[in-house]
Amino acid sequence: MKKLRKLFVFTLSLALLLSGIALDGAKTQAAGKTYKVKVSLSGKKTVRVKSGKKNVKKKTVTVKKGDKIYFSHTKNKKVKSVIYKSMNKKYVTITKKGRAAARKAGTAKIKITVKRKKGKALSTWVRIKVKGNAKSENNSQNPSPQPDSDTPSDTPDAPETPPTDTPSNTPDAPETPPAETPSDTPDVPETPPTDTPSDTQDAPETPPTDKPSNNGKSLVLYFSRAGENYNVGVVEKGSTQIVAEMIAEETGADLFKLETVNAYPENYMECVTVTQEEKNTNARPELKAVPANLAEYKNIYLGYPIWHADMPMALYTFLENNDLSGKTVLPFCTHAGSGLAGTVETIRTKCPGATVTEGFAIAGTTVQESTESTKSNLGVWLEKVRPQEDTSGFDLEKRTVMLNNGIEMPILGIGTYTLSDSQAENSVYWALRDGYRLIDTARIYGNETGVGRGIKRAIDEGLVTREEIFVTTKMWTSDYDNGAAAIDASLNRLGLDYIDLMILHHSQPSNDVQAYQAMEQAVRDGKLKSIGLSNYYTAEDFDRLVNATSIVPALLQNETHPYHQSTMMKEHLKQYGTVMESWFPLGGRGNTQTLFNDETIADIAKAHNKTSAQIILRWHLQAGNIAIPGSSNESHIQENYEIFDFELTKDEMKQMSNLDKNERFADY
Ligand SMILES: Cc1cc2nc3c(=O)[nH]c(=O)nc-3n(C[C@H](O)[C@H](O)[C@H](O)COP(=O)(O)O)c2cc1C
Repeated sequence: MKKLRKLFVFTLSLALLLSGIALDGAKTQAAGKTYKVKVSLSGKKTVRVKSGKKNVKKKTVTVKKGDKIYFSHTKNKKVKSVIYKSMNKKYVTITKKGRAAARKAGTAKIKITVKRKKGKALSTWVRIKVKGNAKSENNSQNPSPQPDSDTPSDTPDAPETPPTDTPSNTPDAPETPPAETPSDTPDVPETPPTDTPSDTQDAPETPPTDKPSNNGKSLVLYFSRAGENYNVGVVEKGSTQIVAEMIAEETGADLFKLETVNAYPENYMECVTVTQEEKNTNARPELKAVPANLAEYKNIYLGYPIWHADMPMALYTFLENNDLSGKTVLPFCTHAGSGLAGTVETIRTKCPGATVTEGFAIAGTTVQESTESTKSNLGVWLEKVRPQEDTSGFDLEKRTVMLNNGIEMPILGIGTYTLSDSQAENSVYWALRDGYRLIDTARIYGNETGVGRGIKRAIDEGLVTREEIFVTTKMWTSDYDNGAAAIDASLNRLGLDYIDLMILHHSQPSNDVQAYQAMEQAVRDGKLKSIGLSNYYTAEDFDRLVNATSIVPALLQNETHPYHQSTMMKEHLKQYGTVMESWFPLGGRGNTQTLFNDETIADIAKAHNKTSAQIILRWHLQAGNIAIPGSSNESHIQENYEIFDFELTKDEMKQMSNLDKNERFADY
């Protein structure tokens, strides 16, 4: 049902985009090169790029009323004349001629630009890799480079819904990991590993714009009055403005000053009269403007002076006319003795659906007289309430992370370690039905066939499409000398044309470089989209492989859980943009109860009315770890996915990070 609704919204988005074109009549064509579409409705628009009959790219961009979307092709490099069919359908479609030109050069790029009515234009490239040569394009008999088979390289065909699952407290299924499985190898590493970014060369030059735009962005929105201030005398700059600017400087937030259409008198007594009247009549003074891009911000520092033991009525105008739900509001005020005066509670009432933090109050005189004291007081508050900076690139709303190759990957998936073929088939099917979009298996688990069957069942029933899901498998160490064959064998067992991510299951200095190079070749051949590593536990070992190969690993899958948080490895991975994926996210068989009964975790679970498993999984995602809990239990699979309706606070995240013992449970 959810899926259907999503599909509907998606289709509707396209329809709106199209109708925008038709209704606005603002489309212009510049010699078949650039298409401009004025958008009449706001929201997320998904733009598809087609080649032949096949959708090769999908980009989602957030647009606002009056924005214009432009499509253009690259003029640089070798492709000078890629021509597109008209935009009067749902797609930008490359013409035959365009394909031929692109094929000749090897790639074609389409630029999608969203020109904002206000603010900076955003643009992103969609690169289309075309195999074969131009000649074959003209030979309809020649099947080789079918237009339809153009291989998108860096496609962010991101699953609309990502994945998440978590293994919960299921006794019957180990989350993900390890090693007991391998059949022919005694020392098998448990879980697998990691994925790698693929053909970096194809990476979009400009960071994709379809990332959720409000992820972590902050705005300081304030009201302040210069002139004669109570207790302060005549000031050039209002006290609240001074604090607002300090916050912006400290946090990197944008600044916006709220102003009323009718300015207030500079003279204090006159101002008191006017504002008292406004308060008495519960007036809503008209605002000159509000930020046009408010939707882009996740955090709003809201500043105001205290007037008549309350916020200025202009703040009521703002709060009642703007939807701040889903955002974090951080109130601060300057005053002459009243403190916050109940304004935080008022803001909470006026902002349903928003998280309103503890407020900050400082006397206007302090602000005007001592920068040092103001900064130090402000610093204490900011330290307490400031939203954690998300440097992980994890988007918990979309439930995906952008890998270092421009491909979006779901951040919560179903693990299948220790599952039989039939168990894996069911788990994968249930998971996909419940919303998961990431599936993790390995050749050594012996269940790729079952995983493939589960995927097929879900696709055949219309629950998902192949493009919406993300399948990871791992190459086992005994296959490292024959990587190409191992990749083909996994593709066969899974019943797939391509694998989203393949990772080397374990470090093996004697021949892992060779195996990785086989995966690099498979990326070039379109068999693998991303590649990475698993079970590399030292920076030196990781760098050894990276230095000997050309595609930077997209991901490293290591044992990671609250008692082994992989902090040092994560720090090391930052320079590569490689993301950490956790196997044994809940500690693994025999250890889950240890983690579930950990007092800190149990207390946090109680506070959120969630299970310990859900708390741990949520922690993984907020800490920037992809998690792949395994389970063969239908209800646990479902439960593990239900971690997107709450958030761990900064303090809870800190408590979780204090649990780190840097101790692995697995003992191989
Ligand atoms: C019209 C008016 C009413 C005020 N009422 C109060 C009040 O009730 N309680 C208080 O502590 N300060 C009050 N003040 C003082 C201001 O809150 C204080 O000077 C504040 O720092 C001014 O901020 P600004 O310079 O950013 O405008 C009032 C000031 C004005 C101008």
